[in-house]
Amino acid sequence: MSTRSADLPIDETSRARLAAQGLRLAVVDGTDAAAYEAWFRAETRGFHNATPTPETIATRHRLLGKDRRLVGVFDDTAGIPEQPVATTICWPADLTVPGRRAVPAWAVSGVTVAQTHRRRGIARALVEAELRTALAQDLPVAMLTVSESTIYSRFGYSPAAFARDLTISTRRVRWTGPEPRGRVQLVTGEQLREDGLAIVERVRLGRPGEMSYSGHLWTRQLGLAPGDADSRKLQIVRYDDPDGVPQGFAVYELVEDPADYADHELKLHTLVAATTDAYAGLWRYVLEMDLVATVTAHLRPVDEPLRWMIDDFRAVRVNELDHLWVRVLDVPAALAARTYGAPGRLVIAIDDPLGFAAGTWAVDVADTGEATVRATDDPADASMSVNALGSLYLGGVPARTLAAAGLLTGDAERLDRFFRAPVEPYLSIWF
Ligand SMILES: CC(C)(COP(=O)(O)OP(=O)(O)OC[C@H]1O[C@@H](n2cnc3c(N)ncnc32)[C@H](O)[C@@H]1OP(=O)(O)O)[C@@H](O)C(=O)NCCC(=O)NCCS
Repeated sequence: MSTRSADLPIDETSRARLAAQGLRLAVVDGTDAAAYEAWFRAETRGFHNATPTPETIATRHRLLGKDRRLVGVFDDTAGIPEQPVATTICWPADLTVPGRRAVPAWAVSGVTVAQTHRRRGIARALVEAELRTALAQDLPVAMLTVSESTIYSRFGYSPAAFARDLTISTRRVRWTGPEPRGRVQLVTGEQLREDGLAIVERVRLGRPGEMSYSGHLWTRQLGLAPGDADSRKLQIVRYDDPDGVPQGFAVYELVEDPADYADHELKLHTLVAATTDAYAGLWRYVLEMDLVATVTAHLRPVDEPLRWMIDDFRAVRVNELDHLWVRVLDVPAALAARTYGAPGRLVIAIDDPLGFAAGTWAVDVADTGEATVRATDDPADASMSVNALGSLYLGGVPARTLAAAGLLTGDAERLDRFFRAPVEPYLSIWF
């Protein structure tokens, strides 16, 4: 039986580094309610969230996946010594890569350091420890979504999937897209708990950048997270195809403009569709909502078809953000996990200050698009940092863009023929 992530020992390098400052790096026992509560309070505080209620803590503890590895840094001289002064939570998750397949990845989250202990290398010790912990489990890549885009490049992470926030002026919009044949139904979060996750699972492998998830990451989308004061505002619709099979859903809230009741804003939190029909049905429902003048949609894919389904392209304003950051650790395993757009041999030289991915690697791609990857002494077609490799990995960032930015040298066109994917990468959640 393989070792649970939570049972792996603490990383010795980072433990010793923090011990030299009088700090204790330790795995927190997630099965122990008191230990979990102390960790959770520290994490919540680290993100400037409201102090959690006992009900929230108890439910989050109950929903904590067995695969979650909680780590804390403890300072026995701190004001609340049982609460860690720094936190992380990590777990293995399947990350979709080009070719409708998944690579096992180390999802890194909950990175916080208390204001009282900032900028003395604690985050560095934690983040580097988790890279080594990923490798100890043979996980070839690590990934995270970030609060600030200035922190993680230094550890070899780089943006690999982007997302867009949309602001849509609905009075300018006339629907010109397909006429959906199914039916949009108002449902409760409870009704969607199982059907909705099944839809999420069905679309996951079709989109590089999507990841497997369940538990709290799922139920909070439905407004079922305990103590979530905002959840009462949520409304949910499900799209059923003409045979009555659920094929998509949307979660949204309505915000009133006190000066004009006809000027509500509809905030679209989630829209997931397994078919083009469901996609059209749900978007049309959202755009034609009465008393709404503006629809805002957070975290949408960069290749959203919506603008091609309405008659005024400029009714949609777009703001793009980096979203999923990827860090390649084991080059042969990571690169062999995906497929490529062209057959042949590509040799890449990777620079990695932390050492994990450094080397020159031959990627031999068969006619099927599958690759074998091994170290080589052959001359490289292209050279880049591990960061650039992370950005190329899901197939969404053009090598030519990175070359123009001075972030890789060599044959960028050849890299693009191999690495670019037909489907834009996208991750539909924060984690
Ligand atoms: C971001 C945070 C984790 C950094 O913790 P920290 O212990 O102060 O960081 P460290 O002292 O280990 O710094 C490591 C490196 O990152 C840099 N760094 C840290 N925070 C940074 C920030 N917000 N922006 C830019 N660089 C930052 C440091 O300058 C240092 O650089 P160097 O080692 O290359 O010289 C901490 O400020 C925090 O908890 N912030 C609020 C929660 C949050 O945003 N977490 C990130 C979730 S994705």
